[in-house]
Amino acid sequence: MNILVTGGAGYIGSHTCIAAFAAGHEITVLDNLSNSSPEALRRVGKIAGKVPRLVVGDIGDRSVVKSLLDSEKFDAVIHFAGYKAVGESVSKPWEYYVNNISGTLVLLDEMRRHGLYNLIFSSSATVYGNPLPENLPLKESAPLAALNPYGQTKLWLEDVMRAMSAADPAWHILLLRYFNPVGAHESGLIGEDPAGIPNNLMPYITQVAVGRLKELTIFGDDWPTPDGTCIRDYIHVCDLAEGHVAALAKVAELPGCTPINLGSGSGVSVAQLVASFEKATGRPLPHKIGPRRAGDAAACYADASRALELLGWKTKRDSDAMCRDAWRWQSMNPKGYK
Ligand code: NAD
Ligand code: UD1
Repeated sequence: MNILVTGGAGYIGSHTCIAAFAAGHEITVLDNLSNSSPEALRRVGKIAGKVPRLVVGDIGDRSVVKSLLDSEKFDAVIHFAGYKAVGESVSKPWEYYVNNISGTLVLLDEMRRHGLYNLIFSSSATVYGNPLPENLPLKESAPLAALNPYGQTKLWLEDVMRAMSAADPAWHILLLRYFNPVGAHESGLIGEDPAGIPNNLMPYITQVAVGRLKELTIFGDDWPTPDGTCIRDYIHVCDLAEGHVAALAKVAELPGCTPINLGSGSGVSVAQLVASFEKATGRPLPHKIGPRRAGDAAACYADASRALELLGWKTKRDSDAMCRDAWRWQSMNPKGYK
């Protein structure tokens, strides 16, 4: 297939380019490089033997999207482009609404004007809000809620896509709800390169291990979980990338708008992830216990059965592999792509 990948220079996008090349697809990336480096795509080229075509531009710039879709026929769009930091969305809500919502509305409109109706959208487990224990593991039918502007953009865009596909049966949209993507390509050449001090657990751990940060603070050990630390569903970014390739193979057969969880289906605690990371590096990770982080849930993990049923996909890599690969990337690239 000939695929347009918005945000393809980013963390998940660059890994997906490798998996999509391996499956024989052609790729054009549309990215404004607001949170990524073209170096990521050069490295995709080293791994895959092929560099994706890069169009530097904004999904919200109609002239860019229109001329791209005028000039080339695509079979499907994988739409990663957007801002993704929860904390930043609270301090810059307008930027999040404009970039994520307006940008996606322009993309959707140009897609339908060009008769391009196959879409794979990056949604998030954030649309489940703070899950109640009785709803775990989370099925796609679990109640939805948005707790911050970032979450609102994902939930609102899901609603837009549900309404548009109810009104026009031509659409085939897969709403992929990612749980906690971590890790890096096993080559160590590409990985997650967050700007500033990371908020998320795995990049914080790797930056402590490489000496950029002093120590990890575990946010609470008094949660109602077996070891007292929070439980999440971590998913290796290469499994996630392969999930997109599985989605590409099925999108044309799945009419309407279908939410699908991409997670491992099992929960891992913060303390367990730290232990896996210590095993991967062979040395202790400096850490201390701190207070709970406001807004955290004790546990959040997927029921991953729909992905297996509809896409024939499930995760293959465990938390040891996630830690090993995250560490290889960080130790080979202590300052990321810089
Ligand atoms: P990322 O920031 O690494 O990648 C996003 C890419 O989109 C970047 O390359 C950025 O430059 C580009 N971009 C942003 N706004 C753009 C615009 N208006 N026009 C063109 N390009 C634009 O993020 P990621 O971790 O790879 O996430 C990809 C998608 O998956 C995002 O939509 C994110 O919300 C979603 N998601 C991520 C996670 C996660 O933990 N990483 C979890 C759930 C969902
Ligand atoms: C984050 C997002 C959420 C998104 C999800 C998947 C926030 C607030 N939420 O959630 O919207 O759907 O990623 O991408 O960012 N932790 C520590 N110390 C740290 C950092 C984290 O103990 O320095 C703990 C947290 O309390 C949590 C776990 O590690 O229990 C994972 O945290 P994080 O990586 O931020 O992901 P989520 O909170 O699951």
